[in-house]
Amino acid sequence: MKYVRLGNSGLKITEITFGTALTIGTENKNINFAQTMIDTAWDLGIRSFDVSNNYGMGNAETLTGQALKKYPRQEYVISTKGSWPIGESTYHRGLSRKHILWAFEESLRRLNLEYVDVYYAHRYDDEVSMEEIVRTFNYLINEGKIRYWATSEWPENALEECHEICDKLQMEKPIAEQFIYSYALTKAEQNGVKIFCDSHGVGTLGFSPLCQGLLTGKYKNGVPKNSRIEKSDKIGYHKTANFYEQNKKRIDHFVDICEKFNIKGSHLAILWCLRKRIYPVLGASSLQQLQENIAALDIEVPTEIWNKL
Ligand SMILES: NC(=O)c1ccc[n+]([C@@H]2O[C@H](COP(=O)([O-])OP(=O)(O)OC[C@H]3O[C@@H](n4cnc5c(N)ncnc54)[C@H](OP(=O)(O)O)[C@@H]3O)[C@@H](O)[C@H]2O)c1
Repeated sequence: MKYVRLGNSGLKITEITFGTALTIGTENKNINFAQTMIDTAWDLGIRSFDVSNNYGMGNAETLTGQALKKYPRQEYVISTKGSWPIGESTYHRGLSRKHILWAFEESLRRLNLEYVDVYYAHRYDDEVSMEEIVRTFNYLINEGKIRYWATSEWPENALEECHEICDKLQMEKPIAEQFIYSYALTKAEQNGVKIFCDSHGVGTLGFSPLCQGLLTGKYKNGVPKNSRIEKSDKIGYHKTANFYEQNKKRIDHFVDICEKFNIKGSHLAILWCLRKRIYPVLGASSLQQLQENIAALDIEVPTEIWNKL
């Protein structure tokens, strides 16, 4: 597994990040499952782990923190996130200093760590001034609680304003932007975000690189048992079916190419992101999926396939 530098920062992460959103702490709340997944990810060379305070309403942080405890802290990168609504109260969301400092301390407590490597402003919040946002995340850096800060799904104009304010205040800029990205959903390449990041030395990570399983081709002949769409009521998540409806033509084209060239959809989907230097934040619901997916890194894709895509 290669290490890659995140934008202009000094931080290196493994080219694949292990994501926990709908699996660890939501679908499966069992520590044995979390431990086996994280041990396998570790054995496969992954050293970058992604959680958030809203995944399983904190369970992902608790279980991931527990599972990583046996590994030397200096040998991995962990990112978590704040700003996503985690309760009904006005104070349970957003990027105000009040919410972020509280949410961060809660994350640290659940992770049972002294610091996190990357702390994400999980969504942009236009009710808070950019100066307050920048000062809040810089405060956490200066306190030694986080090493770097980053953004997720921020619009291009907010990233631009953020960089201007950081320059003006001579403060640390976010080192990465994490957006939804896969062959099926490439909006970050059209809405100016990827271009901004590339031209300002901001690293890019893509979440849902398999389009939540759709690019593996497993839905081609209907909804299989135990798949994310089939489990949607149980895990309270219906977006996968919507993505399929909205992007069916492009997804089917991708799956057809995979079949024609006898390459696994999971492999081609991951390599598509890596080729663009959009580092995948990959989910897996089982050990077999994780093992299969990481095998993508051993595959050479013929130019003819890229041309067809
Ligand atoms: N920043 C943000 O706002 C944000 C938002 C969402 C997610 N994320 C991060 O991104 C990570 C990945 O997101 P994701 O889970 O939606 O994306 P994904 O990696 O595109 O999809 C993972 C899902 O696809 C299916 N799958 C994986 N490998 C497979 C294989 N080899 N064969 C068949 N099916 C396979 C599994 O679902 P089944 O249950 O169908 O088996 C698995 O849970 C999250 O865990 C989280 O860390 C970040």
